[in-house]
Amino acid sequence: MDTTASLSILLLLFGISVANPVRKPEPPAFVPIPGNVDITTKFLETNKGSSERLMHGDIVIPKTRNALYCLNNNCFWKKNSKNLVEVPYIVSSSYSSADISVIQNAMSTFHNKTCIRFVPRVNQTDYISIEDKDGCYSYLGRIGGQQLVSLKRTGCLYHGIIQHELNHALGFYHEHTRSDRDKYVKINWEYIPTDKASNFQIQNTNNQNTTYDYSSIMHYGKTAFSNTVGKDTITPIPNAAVEIGQRQDMSNIDILRINKLYGCV
Ligand SMILES: *[C@@H]1O[C@H](CO)[C@@H](O)[C@H](O)[C@H]1NC(C)=O
Ligand SMILES: *[C@@H]1O[C@H](CO)[C@@H](O)[C@H](O)[C@H]1NC(C)=O
Ligand SMILES: *[C@@H]1O[C@H](CO)[C@@H](O)[C@H](O)[C@H]1NC(C)=O
Ligand SMILES: [Zn+2]
Repeated sequence: MDTTASLSILLLLFGISVANPVRKPEPPAFVPIPGNVDITTKFLETNKGSSERLMHGDIVIPKTRNALYCLNNNCFWKKNSKNLVEVPYIVSSSYSSADISVIQNAMSTFHNKTCIRFVPRVNQTDYISIEDKDGCYSYLGRIGGQQLVSLKRTGCLYHGIIQHELNHALGFYHEHTRSDRDKYVKINWEYIPTDKASNFQIQNTNNQNTTYDYSSIMHYGKTAFSNTVGKDTITPIPNAAVEIGQRQDMSNIDILRINKLYGCV
């Protein structure tokens, strides 16, 4: 056996994947949502029939604690001695290594542009558990102990959706529920079913002096929860043509807000 072969076997034994020139190429780690579907349409469709009690489409309501009270620093993740904010995570064994690389690539945007560090959990008490459950959803902020981030294999493993759910876990609400949203979007209540109206309720958000961001990854799309085909529930004002509900990547303002909220400098 030559050295290369024995080295490969050794690496495989340790579970390390080595680049093999004859293997089929891996799917790209950056997976955009296919087709002309915005982020809300995609995850609301995926979350239909989810067993969790979901607020605003994809935020889990804790059974023991009200997620709405995320106003004190208790629900944020803590900085370590190096001024980095560690968010320990574990991932379910039902994901493939390609799935995991999509998740890790979405995390790498946070690592590259903010002081947030998603780190594999060792023994930390508070951590997120990324699991292939029945939809794309997350708790809001750090709730203490293990907390679920559900990323269903079929429907949620997209760069933008992963970032969206991780942003909830960091403590961010949806942009269209911001305290000052009525200046920037009109909510068309006539197309919103009564039992879905709470998804459009204004929250007492800390806007951190950042401008309203139509391009936020946390903004719902125009037709979110609409009960009438062709009718929008959210209309940007004054210019109704402004795009909302983008699904590709965090915006510069999304990144700025993380940096402000967590005091990354
Ligand atoms: C983050 O930076 C690393 C190292 O430069 C790079 O390989 C990776 O693609 C970046 N991630 C994103 C999502 O831009
Ligand atoms: C985790 O392990 C480290 C090193 O062994 C130890 O110092 C630390 O107290 C442990 N933390 C918890 C939460 O158990
Ligand atoms: C927002 O700006 C005002 C006035 O410049 C300042 O007093 C306040 O501390 C700022 N708030 C935040 C959260 O940065
Ligand atoms: Zn959401």
